[in-house]
Amino acid sequence: MSDGVSDDDKSKIGRRNFLTTAALSAAAAAVGSAAGASAAEAQTINCAPVAGSVAWKQPGNNTHMLALNSGTPTNKGAVTIEYFGHCAFKLTSPSGLTMMFDPWRNDPSGAWGLWFPKEFPRTVVDICLSTHTHFDHDAIDRVDATSVLDRMIGTWSFADVKITAVPDKHSTDAPGWYKWINAVKEFGADPYPPNNPGHLDMVSFVVETGGMRILIWGDNRHNPPEEVWKQWGKIDVLTLPVDGSQHILSYQQGNAIVDRLKPKVVIPTHYLAEGTSVTLSTLQTADEWVKSQKSKKTLTAPKLTLDSSEMASMDREFLYFGNQASHG
Ligand SMILES: [Fe+2]
Ligand SMILES: [Fe+2]
Repeated sequence: MSDGVSDDDKSKIGRRNFLTTAALSAAAAAVGSAAGASAAEAQTINCAPVAGSVAWKQPGNNTHMLALNSGTPTNKGAVTIEYFGHCAFKLTSPSGLTMMFDPWRNDPSGAWGLWFPKEFPRTVVDICLSTHTHFDHDAIDRVDATSVLDRMIGTWSFADVKITAVPDKHSTDAPGWYKWINAVKEFGADPYPPNNPGHLDMVSFVVETGGMRILIWGDNRHNPPEEVWKQWGKIDVLTLPVDGSQHILSYQQGNAIVDRLKPKVVIPTHYLAEGTSVTLSTLQTADEWVKSQKSKKTLTAPKLTLDSSEMASMDREFLYFGNQASHG
């Protein structure tokens, strides 16, 4: 084998370890995690996996979900959206099912520096979901959840919630001044589909509950294939990663997505916020982008309650959490 790893060895070390071994040198593995690869990559540079599930340590049990299991699903009632900063949201369905999306952490390899001054607050929910393996989206071990849907693809439903998880790819444009995508190239990986490393795979989630459809965009690219748009369908609440540095999406890309999906509500994510993230992340606030919108409101609490019957007349209204974030 030109890569010095026999097929037999490959089958033993697994997909992500192999990516690390073959595509990146040990030093590059750390940098590869920037935009970035997973903790697993950083921790397995010698092909010896050291990370494992810590779920057996978590307190609590499934009693809450057992209670919901016997309830009657309803499509009415308010949905609560609680912002935990960056791309992390806790959604609560009308029947009380709780879901945490994209809990964050600092890059465990250290290569991408400090983004968050504190650890993600330990939180108890029914379901924890992560869109991709980048450090700023995958701290699933910080969440005590009955079920973990890590990069799930397909559909899942329980109680009064249905989630459609749509596979696609991460943004690679890096439209701002900071060309983070170059770091992936500099260490020998091809970031572009179809040969991108696994850490640039994405899943977005359409959450149907309370008579509304909420799209958790993650860091998805701005121009997915038509099939992806079709699966997203009509969106009522859109979360979108646009900040002043245009790290994931540019203002123009963000605006085009908003105008195509025409959601009732837009919630900006992935921006610099006092108390959640720090300047070293290179992110900027979303203030400028929000200011340029026709209809906008800066929220004064990290929790938002939406009722589908009250949203009927809303059109692309930006609800901006700004520096508001729950800390557990
Ligand atoms: Fe990402
Ligand atoms: Fe991200």
